[in-house]
Amino acid sequence: MKLLVTGGAGFIGSNFIRYILEKYPDYRVVNLDLLTYAGNLENLKDVENNPNYKFARGNFAAESHVDRSILDSAAFIHTNVVGTHNLLEVAKANGLKRFHHVSTDEVYGHLGPNDTPFNEKTPYAPRSPYSASKAAADHLVMAYHHTYGLPVTISNCSNNYGPFQFPEKLHGLFITNLLEGKKVPVYGDGMQVRDWLYVRDHCEAINLVIHKGKIGETYCVGGNCEKPNIEITKKILELLEKGQDLIEYVKDRPGHDRRYAMDYAKIKKELGWQPRTSFDEGMKKTVEWYKANEDWWREIKSGEYLKYYEKQYGER
Ligand code: TYD
Repeated sequence: MKLLVTGGAGFIGSNFIRYILEKYPDYRVVNLDLLTYAGNLENLKDVENNPNYKFARGNFAAESHVDRSILDSAAFIHTNVVGTHNLLEVAKANGLKRFHHVSTDEVYGHLGPNDTPFNEKTPYAPRSPYSASKAAADHLVMAYHHTYGLPVTISNCSNNYGPFQFPEKLHGLFITNLLEGKKVPVYGDGMQVRDWLYVRDHCEAINLVIHKGKIGETYCVGGNCEKPNIEITKKILELLEKGQDLIEYVKDRPGHDRRYAMDYAKIKKELGWQPRTSFDEGMKKTVEWYKANEDWWREIKSGEYLKYYEKQYGER
């Protein structure tokens, strides 16, 4: 099998490429990535000489950081909506055997404390420029299936965490801040709930959908691990043996979604997937990874890696 992974130099993309190359020694993977701020070939250094792996620079990825989408939504529309449309056109013109689209739980909006988790039948109700751009992309993917018969599948996943996550997201930022002796900025009251999934479990779900998912179907993927941000924060502090005086409550994100949670009954029943990694195990592995990979995140935080890629590949 030949796989083209768009945004393969990002957090989930690089974990997915590593997972596929390990699992299928005869598959070939092309990583198409523009190498913007979050795409970093350092994420795939260990596989760059694998003969089954190739890198190509180009723009089709998804931008995924909500805080950035609030500051600059145009880039998100361009990448997530126009980028997905371009890919669909290319897939249609070339008779691609399968087009799998990786999406997010945020397309469903947010939940109150007593609402039941999202599932595949939940109506779309995105609330940030980021989630609206992902919702538009999901609709385009399904439209290409219904209109042109393109063999598509979609997975909508809850929040991921784990190795190689960009250090501006909750886990990456908080762990690295603490390793640098800085405080951690908790938005608002820290009681916003996310359903956390260890990234490798997400890769396993995508892989199953690609191989066994039904064409034209959507699969919800979740961690069965709803936690308020403050609990994640305290867990990180505990694992790094730091005190709670390092918590700094800061101004809330505008339109901050209160709670997301995913009901993954369908993928469990139809494809036999469920999360493997417990919260304790995943958090421990993640903290250990950032501790062992200081060069990786220090270079990103200092902005050095951007200069390196600009020299090698030109302006972003
Ligand atoms: P984030 O990792 O940005 O993912 P998303 O907004 O897509 O869920 O944030 C996860 C949660 O952590 C979210 O509720 C916002 C919160 N958060 C903070 O409290 N402080 C921070 O500095 C960041 C980056 C996030």
